[in-house]
Amino acid sequence: MPGTPLNLQIILGSIRPTRQVERVAPWVTNRAVAHGAFQVEVIDLRDWPLPHFAEHLGSIGDFADPTYSDPLVKRWNAKIRQADAYLFITPEYNHSVPGVLKNAIDSVFVSFAFRNKPVAAVGYSVGLAAGTRALEHLALIMIETEAAPIRNSVLIPKVGEAFDEAGNPADRATEVALQIVLDDLAWWGHMLRESRQQGELLPGNFRMMAAMSAGEAD
Ligand SMILES: Cc1cc2nc3c(=O)[nH]c(=O)nc-3n(C[C@H](O)[C@H](O)[C@H](O)COP(=O)(O)O)c2cc1C
Repeated sequence: MPGTPLNLQIILGSIRPTRQVERVAPWVTNRAVAHGAFQVEVIDLRDWPLPHFAEHLGSIGDFADPTYSDPLVKRWNAKIRQADAYLFITPEYNHSVPGVLKNAIDSVFVSFAFRNKPVAAVGYSVGLAAGTRALEHLALIMIETEAAPIRNSVLIPKVGEAFDEAGNPADRATEVALQIVLDDLAWWGHMLRESRQQGELLPGNFRMMAAMSAGEAD
């Protein structure tokens, strides 16, 4: 794939002291680096102790350069904006993504930092469900951020038994699934970066407001 490497952020969805994501993240990161299309950055939400989302017009200030309620939220929005593509690694908590991950996504607010960029996910669980419902929900969440969720994903059931001592997946299909996801992120990442550089439509909400206020003036 031509062009400069894409900035891929791998975002970890669990912050628990005993988290199972430690089994999954080194493998995913290793393969993403080896793929060749990406400059990889791992985003660990432990390093981003964001406040519970409570932004409002008063905390945003200037929409062109939002202040937010906390400098960390401003840095978080700037950090997310740097990426060309996103790969979440997340468990399933009560059939959805962990609250800490939802809060981190909600905190990307009015900056539209995820907009028009591809997103995929690796789901896992200690049981058989493999994070399936969390990944379905995550795709819906990311549509609302105006990101472009891709169809393919990696699902890892029984995560405690899913990797050998060297950290490689026991099931070859898991390895193949990740390569498919990385190829998709590379293809969409290049296409969408090129398209963004040529210009983007304004967010739908802004276009709706502009059209409605123009109608009022008639
Ligand atoms: C609050 C909570 C809710 C959970 N809900 C689900 C669930 O809905 N489906 C599932 O398959 N596993 C569920 N689990 C089990 C997780 O798959 C398992 O704890 C896994 O290790 C979580 O990932 P982590 O250790 O990286 O945080 C839940 C675990 C927790 C802590």
